Amino acid sequence: MCGIVGYTGKRKALGILLSGLQSLEYRGYDSAGISLKTKSGIETVKTKGKVIDLISLIAESRLDTSAKIGIGHTRWATHGKPSTENAHPHFTEAVSVVHNGIIENYRSIEKFLNNKGISRKTDTDTETIALLIDHYLKASLDFKNAFFESVKKLKGSFAIVALSKDFDYLMLAKHESPLVIGISEGETFIASDVSAMIEYTNNFIFLEDGDVALVDRDRITIFNEKLEETKRNTVQINWSKEKAQKGGYKHFMLKEIAEEDEAVRNTIQSRIDENGRILLDDEIKLDKEFLKNIDRITVVACGTSFYAGLTAKPILEKFTGVKVDVEIGSEFRYYDYLYSKNNLFLAISQSGETADTKEPLKMAKKRGIKTLSIVNVKESAIARLSDSCIYTLAGPEISVASTKAFTSQLAVLFMLAFYISQLKGKREAFEAAKKLLKIPSLIKQTFDLTEKTIKELADKYYKYQNFLYLGRGICFPLALEGALKLKEISYIHAEGYPAGEMKHGPIALIDENTPSVVVAHPKEPLYSKSISNCEEIKSRHGKIILVSSRKSTIVDDIIEVPEVDYDFAPFIYIIPLQLFAYHVAYLRGNDIDQPRNLAKSVTVE
Ligand code: M6R
Repeated sequence: MCGIVGYTGKRKALGILLSGLQSLEYRGYDSAGISLKTKSGIETVKTKGKVIDLISLIAESRLDTSAKIGIGHTRWATHGKPSTENAHPHFTEAVSVVHNGIIENYRSIEKFLNNKGISRKTDTDTETIALLIDHYLKASLDFKNAFFESVKKLKGSFAIVALSKDFDYLMLAKHESPLVIGISEGETFIASDVSAMIEYTNNFIFLEDGDVALVDRDRITIFNEKLEETKRNTVQINWSKEKAQKGGYKHFMLKEIAEEDEAVRNTIQSRIDENGRILLDDEIKLDKEFLKNIDRITVVACGTSFYAGLTAKPILEKFTGVKVDVEIGSEFRYYDYLYSKNNLFLAISQSGETADTKEPLKMAKKRGIKTLSIVNVKESAIARLSDSCIYTLAGPEISVASTKAFTSQLAVLFMLAFYISQLKGKREAFEAAKKLLKIPSLIKQTFDLTEKTIKELADKYYKYQNFLYLGRGICFPLALEGALKLKEISYIHAEGYPAGEMKHGPIALIDENTPSVVVAHPKEPLYSKSISNCEEIKSRHGKIILVSSRKSTIVDDIIEVPEVDYDFAPFIYIIPLQLFAYHVAYLRGNDIDQPRNLAKSVTVE
């Protein structure tokens, strides 16, 4: 999705804006641009394509690079095709604007402007914001008040930063799209995502919905939705600059898979004591009596986070003793869900900004349902909206394909299951939690043990166009997640299916050109049944890659993983599936960290 950066301070703005835009590239975009306030007014350079194209264009331009105040943007097209004209910033002689989100009432604003003889030149909704501010400036308002008047008219979701030709400050507005202000001495940074500015500061103010801010190098004034001055806390974000860099790896995705042991360790180590007691009392701000008496858990999420919920469902049910529904956010928001009396609503989201997860959360709150979230990004919308939040401590996940977030989400889901079980006085949850403590080193072992084989298998299989991913029991959602990983970065069609369901349809797809990846933990009878499914595939000339700790002679290839208890298998069996997708995509020459058409966080519907 789109990315915003802004800077005002003692340094030249251009380098900071461009490196910020490069840090945001992972979010997915199709065009980029910057505006600087220079001695000759507002100068803008923008282009369709990547930040590297923008840098070349700037090098050829006569842009005054000494400017110390400016804004920048990476656009992911919503209104109007990807083109240089539609790229942000959108500007007039007096003002320049970058915007994330969608202005839902831009047509009526356009009508208002047209009646005054002002018209758009681009296809974007964003241009109407620039024109509106310009209109109020011409009506003799100062920049702050022109911006206030404009924001009052906007409906939809937006994070906006505006730069003026005549005033030395930036104006910001936030509504349902993230915007943060980074603070350092004598300089102020603005970004839609902390990773863009973590290189320069660890201190951030997260604007709240409805906030408007006036920002200069050493003054930040925030106004609430009634435009009254207000205070927002400064939050320290301890992500290191290195975590947001590739650190010697070819791609963030590979780095993030290699970091999964550390991500899970960080997520669990301070939350489980040596006796297996789950230490979540301070973090879960929900009444213990309520937690003891919940009669259903409704998990809502999208994509990989949804699969994390699906994977953890049997553990949640086994340890809490209550029914767990796992629902896709984009469907759930249009569905009249029948909540039970003591229902817990559980949102899972890496980014904490996914619109299709956020909306159901809001709806649940409106219905008076207690809400808990599992989120990776601190102070994100979902974290703040829910009654309570347990953070995954995976560090920044930059690759669009989610990997370490998945295993860290599983870690929190498992801890939550054990925590509720312990509240209910069940002994077995202590032993299980102790086992979880051993998982990070097993994840590391799996990575080290399997990567060489996986590279060889990727070489053998990367030219195939279709794959089936099959699993039973706890391995079935892993098949879904494995297939999702393959399709999103390699662009190979891959379908995840419960292995037992094959004969009800998908077996028709099997031939020598459609390999199957079968995920099978040795737990009986699931293993034998999965091997019977392999026999069915073999007799139709299908090739099979088995992921298991137990060998089989009927498959073509095996990725052997370390032995692990059935309940904890997802942490281990997912690693080769992620690595296989990575190496196949690599051999196909794809842009792994920024796959086509995808965005890291999907903040619009
Ligand atoms: O940030 P979230 O966890 O809410 O994101 C949900 C999905 O958009 C995300 O998992 C997506 O499916 C990834 N590209 C999967 O790799």
